[in-house]
Amino acid sequence: MDLPDSERNSHEPAPLENARLAFVGCGVMAEAVIAGLLRRQLVATDQIVGSHPRAARREELYAKYGVRTYEDNREAVLAAHDLTPLNETIAGPSLVILAVKPQRLSKVLRELKGAIQPDQLVVSIVAGAKTETIAGELMHPAVVRTMPNTPAQIGQGMTAWTATDEVSEAQERAVCAMLAALGKTMRVENERQIDMATALSATGPTYVFLVMEALVDAGVHMGFSRHAAQELVQQTMLGSVMFAQESHKHPAELRNMVTSPGGTSAEAIYQMEKGSLRTVLSKAVWAAYQRAVALGEK
Ligand SMILES: NC(=O)c1ccc[n+]([C@@H]2O[C@H](COP(=O)([O-])OP(=O)(O)OC[C@H]3O[C@@H](n4cnc5c(N)ncnc54)[C@H](OP(=O)(O)O)[C@@H]3O)[C@@H](O)[C@H]2O)c1
Repeated sequence: MDLPDSERNSHEPAPLENARLAFVGCGVMAEAVIAGLLRRQLVATDQIVGSHPRAARREELYAKYGVRTYEDNREAVLAAHDLTPLNETIAGPSLVILAVKPQRLSKVLRELKGAIQPDQLVVSIVAGAKTETIAGELMHPAVVRTMPNTPAQIGQGMTAWTATDEVSEAQERAVCAMLAALGKTMRVENERQIDMATALSATGPTYVFLVMEALVDAGVHMGFSRHAAQELVQQTMLGSVMFAQESHKHPAELRNMVTSPGGTSAEAIYQMEKGSLRTVLSKAVWAAYQRAVALGEK
């Protein structure tokens, strides 16, 4: 049974002390990790380097976070290996985070071939890229594959991750601590479960946003302003999730609590079941899973 990492490793300190991190491709996700790490003071600016092809983006990252950046991906990887944070003599784990779009990955892997040092760990956040492909292309066996989701951009994400056998326990703890900058994390057993998480949590915001949009439209249909409907719906969704988390009750039990005989909830549930909402959601997740598997086989 998979447990969230927050429950699994709650007794262990965040082991990013003296860590050296190289972000290859500094777009939205890399920035979310960098910002989260610095905000939580898990690492200092001088422990991070990045690479980006555009000078304007490199300058932006330096201005915002004081992070050193390179145009050349290999240079960033080597710099992260040789980096000794100020006032530190013992080097911590060295992580190379691949954060480019999937279509750019093969080019980047070709560039990095031979540059990853034996004690470095490669962490991929690239959707669909298998550890076998990354390890094979880089000729480097220690690889972690992660699957975050969009709320990671505000530190409220859910990231599933898995590691190859060559990843040490210390490296796993470092990855766990780094990913915590994006929100909650869960170590899954294998890449099949990464595909499953792709369908459930990584694609998850899509289901939620569609339901949110439909409810807001229903509010507008009844006569609320869009602004009022949005506030009513968003706070209801947020509050319901927090209530479910805090009460630890089964969703059906929580639903029964608000369903009185002949009442509004009973009427609404009847319509949702009649419209096969449950089946539609289940089919949507299954289709997303099959798509994730198919994309991984390309
Ligand atoms: N965003 C999410 O919520 C999310 C969720 C799950 C997984 N992911 C995965 O995370 C990865 C990054 O996504 P993202 O949203 O951060 O994308 P993104 O904002 O486009 O970031 C990728 C960055 O890489 C840069 N880049 C392009 N070619 C490069 C090269 N050859 N070497 C180094 N950098 C290069 C891009 O530069 P330009 O700006 O010039 O193109 C861009 O800034 C993707 O593989 C995606 O599948 C993202």
